[in-house]
Amino acid sequence: MKIIRSPQAMTAWSENLRRQGVTIGFVPTMGALHDGHRELIRAARLRCDALVVSIFVNPTQFGPQEDLAKYPRPISRDRALCRKEGVDVCFEPTAEAMYPNGFQTMVTLPIIARRWEGEIRPHHFSGVATVVTKLFGIVCPQVALFGQKDFQQSALVQQLVKDLNLGVEIVVCPTVRETDGLAMSSRNVYLSQEDRKRAVTLYKSLRAGAEVIRRGVTDGKAVQSAMAYVLKKEPAMTIDYLALCNPSTLEPLCDVTSRVVLLGAVRLGSVRLIDNLLVILPWGLPNRARRL
Ligand code: PAF
Repeated sequence: MKIIRSPQAMTAWSENLRRQGVTIGFVPTMGALHDGHRELIRAARLRCDALVVSIFVNPTQFGPQEDLAKYPRPISRDRALCRKEGVDVCFEPTAEAMYPNGFQTMVTLPIIARRWEGEIRPHHFSGVATVVTKLFGIVCPQVALFGQKDFQQSALVQQLVKDLNLGVEIVVCPTVRETDGLAMSSRNVYLSQEDRKRAVTLYKSLRAGAEVIRRGVTDGKAVQSAMAYVLKKEPAMTIDYLALCNPSTLEPLCDVTSRVVLLGAVRLGSVRLIDNLLVILPWGLPNRARRL
């Protein structure tokens, strides 16, 4: 496996392969790789001839009070995982190479990025959109893979690619969970032992929402109450948002439709957890629309 640190060398590597007709798959990450990343890498392997993983803790997507300095950076372990999974290149640029003196341009956000994470972390998505646009320009992949765990981020990247004609196919892979259901995340390492046990309550709450929908409840407020009821049993958690949304626009829904996404974000001590469940009723809405 090659380790490339300079953006110019990365582009040269990709351009050379693309001239030979090789398909390049790309998994952008901030490192601290876990089984969720491993699944993205494996899914990319199946689709592409050559595989690039970027490891870059992107400073522009962290707010001033956030965890940029203490974000986990286990680089040797990350490289070992990439090597084992047959990654061809680990692209590890420095912050100076990505944002040299004089850097000025940031991507303006689409509507889909305004609510939810966008509201709570005001600088976050503009940093994500900018770095993803830069990484696509540097790595020149035909296909890039993202995890459903960051549902709003995936939606943003799809909009970005469409609006800016970036010419990259975006594949969104299912969330990988721990055995108790907690969504895998690099930030789970911050959880104390006690909070780790509590953390699964977010998933349980989303499951409760999905369950009432499947039982025929169509009132959005009733679905939200079912989710909140579960979360409130865990007083250590505070809710940032719990929402029932249209999965394409991320606008909140008053009534359940045949496709909804349940979004949740909570705080547990100093750790923020986000998760989501996509609920698709393939037979359409149940006949008996019940209200709780
Ligand atoms: O999801 C992440 O790890 C990051 O937001 C990404 C897409 C690598 C951009 O820095």
